[in-house]
Amino acid sequence: MNSTKKNPYIPMPVRIDAITIENDEKDLKTFRLVFTEKNDATAFRHSCGQFAMLSVAGTGEIPIGIASSPSDEGYIEFTVKRYPTGSVTTALHDLSEGDIIGVRGPLGNSFPLASLEGRNLLIIGGGFAFTTLRATIRYLRNAEMRKKYGNITILYGARNPGELLYKKELEEWQKAGDTTTVVTVDKADDTWKGREGLVPNVLYELAPKSENATAIVCGPPIMLKFTMPPLLKLGFTPDNIITSLERKMSCGIGKCGRCNVGSKYVCKDGPVFTYAETMAMED
Ligand SMILES: Cc1cc2nc3c(=O)[nH]c(=O)nc-3n(C[C@H](O)[C@H](O)[C@H](O)COP(=O)(O)OP(=O)(O)OC[C@H]3O[C@@H](n4cnc5c(N)ncnc54)[C@H](O)[C@@H]3O)c2cc1C
Ligand code: FES
Repeated sequence: MNSTKKNPYIPMPVRIDAITIENDEKDLKTFRLVFTEKNDATAFRHSCGQFAMLSVAGTGEIPIGIASSPSDEGYIEFTVKRYPTGSVTTALHDLSEGDIIGVRGPLGNSFPLASLEGRNLLIIGGGFAFTTLRATIRYLRNAEMRKKYGNITILYGARNPGELLYKKELEEWQKAGDTTTVVTVDKADDTWKGREGLVPNVLYELAPKSENATAIVCGPPIMLKFTMPPLLKLGFTPDNIITSLERKMSCGIGKCGRCNVGSKYVCKDGPVFTYAETMAMED
């Protein structure tokens, strides 16, 4: 029986199957996790944009966006940034393949992909907030899903080439041609042959059409702040811009009030909101 159905506070055990170091700083790692109980694996069905609580015994529990696609069979993935003073992220980064941790979820709402069928999608990501967008892109590139959408334009930026996540996949997407994938870095180095420039500036250059289009945007607050004006200028209305919020969380299921912004619980009503909804929030 799935333990989370009985008690939503009890984590499911998962084994770390693989760890990928994503960046030059080595403070971003992707953890591939496999459920140790078959029933838990069957019960865990997520949608793009959702998160889960990851727990390390004796340390604590943290919310992390699900980076794998719902169509990835047999495992789930999370990309975690380690904060030097962060107890849980540091404990996670110190673990090895084969170690057991806990997962509670999937939690929160998701990107409304079903209601966006037939539309063009503009997917904009910056920094490590790109994780749930990576899940979304993997999902949409699946042959069955891809034909349900119009043009898919991806714009992803990182501080420098060494900080780009999922480098092999980015190359694959660029070569495949079923999306327009534009990767940019704030500051290039000698190795970088691609684009240099901040995400909002590159967005102005690309000038994607807003007709029949929805933008999904996830990134650090500073990127979001400077990406909204170009989007609005290009004709994307606040209802047609979707984003994801981050807040400190405890229960993750709308019980403790740790994550609320005004009357909304980010863990339960979000983390996905339209830009229009975030503008109406009191905080
Ligand atoms: C819905 C949701 C999805 C998330 N998805 C991801 C994800 O995919 N990958 C990921 O790495 N993180 C993600 N986070 C953030 C993650 O939850 C925090 O980084 C984590 O809780 C830090 O735990 P800690 O115990 O290591 O650090 P804490 O002890 O909580 O904090 C230690 C230090 O790190 C700083 N810090 C903590 N969180 C952040 C932050 N988000 N930004 C900047 N500084 C911070 C604190 O200010 C403090 O100085 C997500 C958060 C939410 C709410
Ligand atoms: S984290 Fe407890 S209510 Fe959202």
